[in-house]
Amino acid sequence: MEKSFYIEVYGCQMNVYDSRRIAELLLANGFVQSPDPHDAEILIFYTCNVREKAAQRLFSNIGFLRSNKTEVIAVGGCVSQAEGTNIFRNKHINISFGAQTYHRLPEHINSILSGKKAQILDLAFDEGTKFRHLAPSTAKASHSEFVTIQEGCDNFCAYCVVPYTRGREYSRPAKDVIAEAREFIARGAKEITLIGQNVNSYHGEAPYITVGQPKETWRLERLIREIALLDGLKRLRYTTSHPKDFTAELMRVHAETPVLTPFAHIPVQSGNDRILKLMNRGHTARAYLDKLAMFRDICPSIQFSSDFIVGFPTETDTEFEDTVNLAEAARYTISYSFKYSRRKNTPADKMDGQIPERIKEERLALLQETLLKSQVEHNRALVGTTQEVLFDRVGRKENQYIGKNVYLQSVIVESSENLIGEFRNVLVEQSGENSVSGRVL
Ligand code: SAH
Ligand code: SF4
Ligand code: F3S
Repeated sequence: MEKSFYIEVYGCQMNVYDSRRIAELLLANGFVQSPDPHDAEILIFYTCNVREKAAQRLFSNIGFLRSNKTEVIAVGGCVSQAEGTNIFRNKHINISFGAQTYHRLPEHINSILSGKKAQILDLAFDEGTKFRHLAPSTAKASHSEFVTIQEGCDNFCAYCVVPYTRGREYSRPAKDVIAEAREFIARGAKEITLIGQNVNSYHGEAPYITVGQPKETWRLERLIREIALLDGLKRLRYTTSHPKDFTAELMRVHAETPVLTPFAHIPVQSGNDRILKLMNRGHTARAYLDKLAMFRDICPSIQFSSDFIVGFPTETDTEFEDTVNLAEAARYTISYSFKYSRRKNTPADKMDGQIPERIKEERLALLQETLLKSQVEHNRALVGTTQEVLFDRVGRKENQYIGKNVYLQSVIVESSENLIGEFRNVLVEQSGENSVSGRVL
């Protein structure tokens, strides 16, 4: 009898991408997928370690999802990578695998099932190897798919675990990226999002060689121009990027490429130069705002979103106010803000002047109030406009459908026709805090 597996996934888009590839690998190796954890012999947890008590949360979820049917528990991704052998303090875990070694998971699961091994730890950093072992499926693709173009990070922001959990920067060859995007489109995808920890530092091998010349690499700008030409592609996005790697050429690509959405996620983290320096972000607040201004000049329809961290070690009230001021000046359409969270082995964890939880909470609430104001304003400005929407889920009410416009804003409509996976033009009639609504034209 085939054994069935269940995958639980946490964290960023990279994890969503990885978990889909893991499922395909297991299916290609004779396992079947189960939507119910209590019905599966194999439980896989693909984890995130970026904030909060990730290991504790993982262990309690293992407790909830285990059943007397469970034979193998495999934990993968960033918590595995950060915990090392410590992960096995939870006695139920059989396999711990890294973000770069999941191609060996079917083999590891078989070793556990056959009783050859009781515990396996596989956390090597063979950058790029896993991509050569993928088992693409022939099933219908989702209307919106992720394509990993770059992984890992060399920036070492002082608060962040990613460089330690995902490893050094690695860019997939352009040929492989284009082939995977083309494949998804052939299987029905209409929207592609190019993903990576830092996509605008992409420098992948070019798809050709010029005899007698050194090997060429492509930057993100060139890659986007090429992918935009793929027949059948309706919408192209990329995320996430670093302010210091935004070039004028990338801004021009936005202005000149109709399928590329006029939207960029450019995390700033803080609006204060001393804190930015301590964070090791590599730019000042002024330089950041100048880049947004230049972007708006080159591509007038562009809108931005950002990430923020409040309560970084030693941050004072006035320094925090700089962040609120920057948030106001930048006029973001959406933003994600977090309380600084201490991560083991990162430089910021060792800094004096850690900020008390209560102050972090107050600052977060204040910042979110400001961010919400510009989000509400942006939504209000959409009233009376026509938005192109790709519908991806049903709403709570009957015949209600929800989709995203180019700015990743949720748009709600009523329709007797099933709109999932469809593009429609919507006249926006009302706006709220987190969504707008209207009618299909
Ligand atoms: N590579 C991306 C995002 C990485 S993590 C980038 O640089 O933008 C996503 C977001 O999580 C970050 O932008 C940051 O705002 C937040 N984050 C990362 N580490 C954190 C920490 N230790 N505490 C709180 N937030 C953190
Ligand atoms: Fe983390 Fe900074 Fe790299 Fe982003 S750029 S993944 S925040 S180290
Ligand atoms: Fe989390 Fe790892 Fe992604 S820490 S945000 S899953 S890179």
